[in-house]
Amino acid sequence: MSSLLVDNVGELVTNVPAVGGDGPLGIRRGVALLVEAGRVVWIGPGRYAPAADRRIDAEGGAVLPGFVDSHAHLVFAGDRATEFAARMAGEPYTGGGIRTTVGATRAADDDVLRGTVRRLREEAMRQGTTTMEIKSGYGLTVADEARSLRIAAEVTTETTFLGAHVVPAEYASRPDDYVGLVCGPMLTAAAPYARWVDVFCERGAFDADHARAILTVGQAAGLGLRLHANQLGPGPGVRLGVELGAASVDHCTHLSDADVDALAGSASAGTSAADGSTPAAGSTTTVATLLPGAEFSTRSPYPDARRLLDAGVVVALATDCNPGSSYTSSMPFCVALAVREMRMTPAEAVWAATAGGARALRRTDVGVLRPGARADLMILDAPSHLHLAYRPGVPLVRQVLHNGVPQCRL
Ligand code: NIG
Ligand code: FE
Repeated sequence: MSSLLVDNVGELVTNVPAVGGDGPLGIRRGVALLVEAGRVVWIGPGRYAPAADRRIDAEGGAVLPGFVDSHAHLVFAGDRATEFAARMAGEPYTGGGIRTTVGATRAADDDVLRGTVRRLREEAMRQGTTTMEIKSGYGLTVADEARSLRIAAEVTTETTFLGAHVVPAEYASRPDDYVGLVCGPMLTAAAPYARWVDVFCERGAFDADHARAILTVGQAAGLGLRLHANQLGPGPGVRLGVELGAASVDHCTHLSDADVDALAGSASAGTSAADGSTPAAGSTTTVATLLPGAEFSTRSPYPDARRLLDAGVVVALATDCNPGSSYTSSMPFCVALAVREMRMTPAEAVWAATAGGARALRRTDVGVLRPGARADLMILDAPSHLHLAYRPGVPLVRQVLHNGVPQCRL
């Protein structure tokens, strides 16, 4: 079995405080890391590093777990650059442009959709993203939702059925019938390709009764739950997600005190380790996933991450990569925005973009670097994780290992 040693590491972010590192990032210095069969098998002082078949010299750069981007919409055709330009000239974002992308997506053949998914997945990988969730939601027919998920499943196991993204134009006058379609034939066709089910619970999309109905049947079909909630205004989505045991409620831009309390309550009930680092088996924590690329690209107020963190809520960061509200695949950009605009420290933002994303996907094998974890990591052209926010817009990711395999250099 071939082994790979990563040494000359300036700073290793493990996200495992118990190992003896400092702070929530579990930072260790002077260590090397051995990879075999796609897993980390050893971490220890560089001078005791075992012999290995191959070696990567980190040249004093920081090594971090790969980013876990737990929210992205990559299966689409067309773009909406003119809609973006109109927003920057003062138009508000309402989500209405989703239907434009639905039209383009339905008209595209499989290879066009596949090409976009692969291009964006590779773009994200080059920026350090080793795990990526991908949603359907621009097909909105039985056949188009199923094929969106089938294509997404070619590049990730974290696939999410979002048939309830908006009510498509042909059902505009009978939304209950559309919810019936989503809960029946569409779910049946989508479920074989999906791990999760999601609903855009928002005024103008789906109300709490619709969301509850869809999530409940999705759960009965074996899917985990996630929700787009409280993006454009206050509403019932966050509390519904916590009540139903969703793994994550995403956006969380407009939160009441009751929403924050509900999220904090789920975090204290669903965590085993006192330091919050280890999710209990079968965790019931609902993570608040913040998507600052969406606030950036819709020129909206950012969510207050500090308020959530101070209340004890588990926070994740993700890109929301989609052609309308956030056309970025860059987790480093989201980390920088979270630090600059959402009152997160660099350490909190890096944790949220790695371990936080893993919690939002209820994964324990990614988002951490310890023996047994998946060998998903990035090597930076910088000595510490601080540089991800300190040097915004700079391509600092020099190398990425995914399942222990080095990816193309930038
Ligand atoms: O997460 N909010 C709903 N869905 C996407 C936006 C999709 C679009 O505008 O095309 C989001 O921001
Ligand atoms: Fe989204």
